[in-house]
Amino acid sequence: MNPSATFSPSVKIAEMRAQNINVIDLSVGNPSLSPPVHITNAFIQAVCEGHTGYSFPEAGLLSLRQKIAETYNRQGHKVDADRNVFVTPGCKAGLSSTIRALTETGDTVVCSAPYWPSYPEMVENAHAVFKSIQISQKQNFQITPEQLDRVIDKNTKIVIFTSPHNPTGAVLKPEQIIAYKKVLNLHKNQHVTILADEIYKDIIFDGVQHTSFLGREVEDRIVISGSISKSCVINGLRIGYLIGTEKTLRKIYPILSNNYGGVCNPSQYAYKAALDNIGETTDFISCFKNACQQSRDISMTQLNEIFDTECLKPEGTFYIFPSCQNVMGKVTPEGKMIQNDLDYVAYLLDKAHVAVVAGSKFGKPDHFRMQFAVPKETLKEGLNRIKEATHCLRVI
Ligand SMILES: Cc1ncc(COP(=O)(O)O)c(C=O)c1O
Repeated sequence: MNPSATFSPSVKIAEMRAQNINVIDLSVGNPSLSPPVHITNAFIQAVCEGHTGYSFPEAGLLSLRQKIAETYNRQGHKVDADRNVFVTPGCKAGLSSTIRALTETGDTVVCSAPYWPSYPEMVENAHAVFKSIQISQKQNFQITPEQLDRVIDKNTKIVIFTSPHNPTGAVLKPEQIIAYKKVLNLHKNQHVTILADEIYKDIIFDGVQHTSFLGREVEDRIVISGSISKSCVINGLRIGYLIGTEKTLRKIYPILSNNYGGVCNPSQYAYKAALDNIGETTDFISCFKNACQQSRDISMTQLNEIFDTECLKPEGTFYIFPSCQNVMGKVTPEGKMIQNDLDYVAYLLDKAHVAVVAGSKFGKPDHFRMQFAVPKETLKEGLNRIKEATHCLRVI
């Protein structure tokens, strides 16, 4: 198992910053913004009030689970707080525990490539086999139902969908979700679970609404992983949730209980405060989303010009995933040939002091992921540096 690929540039960045090098970090999915005070104050208050012991029940505070259930029930779902919701110490814990609980050695877990790099690591850790479906920008970085149908076999136990998608920002439309479910329902293998990673569900642009994989009822073989940690910038509080049937959550529970021992108590109070004060939280998320949308537009315009090719317009998240194929085979001023995306990303960090993540880490070479939830001036400076460094590359 390898350490998180999206976190890995942070070591080099810290070293460079220790040498007083002004690095612009557009790598990790950590927005540069302070979270709303009603959330952080609730965290502090929980600590001051002594909520610092283990948290019982391990499924999470019932009052928090009720609030999480309500957010889905307002959209027409029927989620029972007690039976269908489990609060987890971050989405990573929920996703990895689900994969462990629902697979046996040799089972396969299917996902599109590009994918979020922790999925294959989690699958390997569960002794299962990760099978990716290559998707291209031509198909808007979305699997076709036919591709899904072709890859499923008797060993397939889980299909992971991420919408909005990290790293491409693609968002699934309701008709696509229906089509995928149809494939899985019609398929001979009725044992396949959809693991829907909806962590970015609140960060969708251009007035488009998120569609959940969750049907009206919580069905067997659908597990939802979510959080407001990205949209409220509280990813360091390590909190998320799973929604599933009682039967499925019962299988996941021992893994969460033995590996994590519950969720940080103050983080749960903070999350609850976010949902108790939904008006303030929604206002915060709207402002953040608008800022992200503007940053998306700035990034698109610049990157299309730099690489002389159109990259997919992210419909959500705060990532963009341009192709850097045009720079392959070019030579740096120091005489080194850029052979692949890893070389190019290393060159950007060394030459331009801008950190991004190579597409290879997401199972899609010749691309890179750039995070744009940073102040506009930082973003513009980062893009200018990428432009200058890229224009320095020569054809031989
Ligand atoms: C698609 C996706 N899922 C899950 C996670 C992990 O979430 P958490 O920080 O809550 O563990 C991330 C974090 O970047 C992500 O991008």
